Amino acid sequence: LHEGQPYRTSYHFQPSKNWMNDPNGPMYYKGVYHLFYQHNPFAATFGDQIVWAHSVSYDLINWIHLNNAIEPSEPYDINSCWSGSATILPGEKPVILYTGIDENKHQVQNLATPKDLSDPFLREWIKYPQNPVITPPNGVEVDNFRDPSTAWLGKDGKWRVIIGAQNGDEGKVILFQSDDFFNWTVDPNPFYATDKTGVCECPDFFPVFIHGRNGVDTSVQNPSVRHVAKISYLSRQHDYYFVGKYVDDQELFIPDTNFTGTSLDLRYDYGKFYASKTFFDHQKHRRILWGWINESDSTQDDIDKGWAGLQSIPRQVWLDETGKRLIQWPIEDVEKLRGEQISINGEKLESGSRIEVSGITASQADIEVIYEMPELENAELIDSDSVDPQLLCSQEYASSCGTIGPFGLSVLASEDLIEQTEISFHIYKAPTRYVGLMCSDQSRSSLRKDLDKTTYGAFFDIDPRLKTISLRVLIDHSIVESFGEEGRVCITSRVYPSLAIGKDAHLFVFNKGTQSISLSKLNAWSMNKAQINNEKALDCS
Ligand code: FRU
Repeated sequence: LHEGQPYRTSYHFQPSKNWMNDPNGPMYYKGVYHLFYQHNPFAATFGDQIVWAHSVSYDLINWIHLNNAIEPSEPYDINSCWSGSATILPGEKPVILYTGIDENKHQVQNLATPKDLSDPFLREWIKYPQNPVITPPNGVEVDNFRDPSTAWLGKDGKWRVIIGAQNGDEGKVILFQSDDFFNWTVDPNPFYATDKTGVCECPDFFPVFIHGRNGVDTSVQNPSVRHVAKISYLSRQHDYYFVGKYVDDQELFIPDTNFTGTSLDLRYDYGKFYASKTFFDHQKHRRILWGWINESDSTQDDIDKGWAGLQSIPRQVWLDETGKRLIQWPIEDVEKLRGEQISINGEKLESGSRIEVSGITASQADIEVIYEMPELENAELIDSDSVDPQLLCSQEYASSCGTIGPFGLSVLASEDLIEQTEISFHIYKAPTRYVGLMCSDQSRSSLRKDLDKTTYGAFFDIDPRLKTISLRVLIDHSIVESFGEEGRVCITSRVYPSLAIGKDAHLFVFNKGTQSISLSKLNAWSMNKAQINNEKALDCS
């Protein structure tokens, strides 16, 4: 089925064919992880009969394909079953809230429950006969009201759920309350609103511990947690998050910082990553984030290859010690796919040097690098508050030589380097602090035309007491997921090389800065293939 498919992934989640977008209703239930996703069963493009496809896993790495869980069938969802979330009610009872596109093309919220709780895979889902349970309230456009979040239980015993919406230019997140999960009343004040952003999609709201990496159940409210709200702004195609305070008795979320529309806003990922959703994995006490990574090739390319859309590697998320931003790290389970290993220790990267890392499958790899931080005094000056990092990374300036950097990795590179994707750091001195610029440069990723080769970039603060700076990159044929500074800044990109394919892909470390850099440690692993929705499993479902 997949012969001649150089861009299919080996360990990133994707269906065996056709279109996929948002992750839906992720949950852990009685030993099994569930992932539902937006899927067009009929084509490699988005369509008007979107279903909830369903896969299950014991480890979040290997996935068994099941039949669709929810498909258009009733007046309240006849034109598609759009995104939504799962909540596990007391007594171990999962329920799904999802958006139906109804017979009038209005967006309404519907409920579904498992037919048989003793089926370990929860294969069949029953729609509640009294659907829809929520219809668009006043002040919300009927065709812009979607994507219910996982619900949380307030101290008053009432359930809360938030739903994305729009009214004119204003983006809104609307809160609803319920005693029984079936009857919902709207809170007259928006839970969150932003001017001039357009529709808010896929809102997510969850607590994070102030200290430590453990995750916490969505309903927990106590002094040891803060809250995070995430909104996907369709007009920007990015997932923004806000750390803040949840004042539960007033149904108020007070973010520490407001949306500015500039590069100062916090995003899960400064490349491609959208419509994401978290869930609490109570088996391993962690909160896990899934995000949809779309294609960068043309619609015709998608039709030709017969599929479109990936999911990120599930990321564990927690609050960093400053309390200002989240840290994201590929779940530890992915490490069991690591095979052959190559290590380089204590190598000096002189100005202009480039070293090939050979001996692993460079098109299917996991790489961890630790650079020794050089003397920072010589760093070039920059006013990081008034410069757009993505622009800086796109300009030749970033890829040409500076003082401290750019240094980093060339991945999915052809032997002659005509094709390569560069992930790099460049260290600057800002008026009152040091900043790092992390770039993922796709501009030379392929000789092919008609691809979106946008370069991405982000700034992050450098603690001058730090001795090292780290980079982790997951490479999987057409996806490059990069985690800078131990997951403080993440950039995901999609690339479609024409030469650097399979065994012809190479991996290099480089330093283009005038100052030499010490590579204190590099570990690179070939990654084994995961079992993901393969046809055999499909036949058995
Ligand atoms: C986000 C989104 C959601 C919607 C779904 C439709 O990518 O537009 O708002 O529910 O995709 O597939």
